[in-house]
Amino acid sequence: MTRRTLIAGNWKMNGLSADGALLAGNLARWYREQARINADVLICPPATLLGMAAGLVGGTGISVGGQDCHVSEAGAHTGDISAAMLKDVGCSHVIVGHSERRADHGETDATVRAKASAAIEAGLIPIICIGETDAQREAGKTLDVIATQLRGSLPQGALAHNTVIAYEPVWAIGTGKVATPDQAQDVHRAIRRDLGAFLGPQAAAQIRILYGGSMKPGNAQSLLALEDVDGGLIGGASLQLDDFIAIIEAAL
Ligand code: PGA
Repeated sequence: MTRRTLIAGNWKMNGLSADGALLAGNLARWYREQARINADVLICPPATLLGMAAGLVGGTGISVGGQDCHVSEAGAHTGDISAAMLKDVGCSHVIVGHSERRADHGETDATVRAKASAAIEAGLIPIICIGETDAQREAGKTLDVIATQLRGSLPQGALAHNTVIAYEPVWAIGTGKVATPDQAQDVHRAIRRDLGAFLGPQAAAQIRILYGGSMKPGNAQSLLALEDVDGGLIGGASLQLDDFIAIIEAAL
């Protein structure tokens, strides 16, 4: 079963218009100069830059995604953004359930599932994030935590064409600590096994599972080569053009 690699940049709450235009514009220029890119490339800028970024990368093959969406399509939810709005400005994907949103905004698995459903409903591909904390890993609970989050966060009707999973160990995000290839493969294999139980073997074999957490040019190749790692969700390194390109190249 071949799963096309997906390299996704999560810019988080970084970038004013000038920085965002430079980064998205230069990435688009580089992409256009490549004869062939054997990976899907996605950038997830902050909401304020989405429309501009979509304009700059439009027609290249680079996709644009949001970092969160509301569970409702529209209504009295001051400050929130719906999946339909993301779609409207040119997004094809949206990250849901990132551990920073789970921590900062108290998002539960049920919220994440509702957001993922809303995304699919609007024609977006949710990237559903799951991952254990340092304490949970130390306590030997990693695979239990992962299975519980996955079961709770997966929406009905999740299949390979409409859903992506991201395994992001919380202890590896923005810390410079990266999962070893063995640690990453063990969890990714378990996620695929759990997906098989929840969605059936065919969907499990086809769904892409990204690794996220301090992925850098120096460790990308060893992670992306793992059997059950189908791409990366990259935070810090996605803000540096050369680093992000090096990670895309590591996937080729
Ligand atoms: P990081 O972030 O690459 O900076 O560790 C990854 C993420 O949070 O998606």
